[in-house]
Amino acid sequence: MTATTTSPAASVGEVPSFDVTLRFRRFDPDAANPEPFWQEFTVTAHGTDRVLDAMHKVKWELDGTLTFRRSCAHGICGSDAMRINGRNRLACKTLLKDLDLSKPIVIEPIKGLPVVKDLVVDMEPFFASYREVMPFLIAQGNTPSKERRQSPEDRARYDDTTKCILCAACTTSCPVFWTDGQYFGPAAIVNAHRFIFDSRDEGAAQRLEVLNDKEGVWRCRTTFNCTDACPRGIEVTKAIAEVKRAMITRAF
Ligand code: SF4
Ligand code: F3S
Ligand code: FES
Repeated sequence: MTATTTSPAASVGEVPSFDVTLRFRRFDPDAANPEPFWQEFTVTAHGTDRVLDAMHKVKWELDGTLTFRRSCAHGICGSDAMRINGRNRLACKTLLKDLDLSKPIVIEPIKGLPVVKDLVVDMEPFFASYREVMPFLIAQGNTPSKERRQSPEDRARYDDTTKCILCAACTTSCPVFWTDGQYFGPAAIVNAHRFIFDSRDEGAAQRLEVLNDKEGVWRCRTTFNCTDACPRGIEVTKAIAEVKRAMITRAF
């Protein structure tokens, strides 16, 4: 089905509008024929609209069954990672004006995780790896009588990896993860890095042991897809290299 909405020509001072076509990879497990299929919709958008705005128009005005996750709409919650024109991105951070609008914008679910419906994937395998690296402060001994202090330099050591929003754009852009889904994946390693290099933490050796697994850091082939995909600009491949180095030198 193709559906089109149009708008009157923009008048002086009005933000110009334009038509944009979105081509979705859809899947409904409850359909009589539950095979994935492609479907296009054309909607009217405005100069500063994001892909998420156009998707909302489709869902709210043309087909309420189109299924996708989103929450904050401001690049914080990490729930709307998807493949847009073949690249993992957040729909809420991708401006339509930055895409080639002369042809349909192709929107697919992120790769390597089971598709539940349309753009919604089962995130559980992703979060299972995340949980395995123990993404919380591990401090032994008695409860301290005052706060655990940290110098600005020590805090800066892991600043980059604190920015992760667990969107899975990195892990689901990694060809190693695509092969069998067993690799821990860059997001789990990023979140291990965040604590391994925290001067207050005492669980680094445990986490490195977890990541020394055959599905751990050594499966990374330095492809850099993860760094390119990260909507938070985290230097993911660099963080992975630092974890590999820590594993060899035990310096952290
Ligand atoms: Fe998303 Fe970046 Fe975190 Fe990966 S490292 S989950 S791409 S925010
Ligand atoms: Fe994959 Fe990133 Fe390594 S894309 S191979 S985890 S550098
Ligand atoms: Fe929250 Fe996009 S909707 S990051």
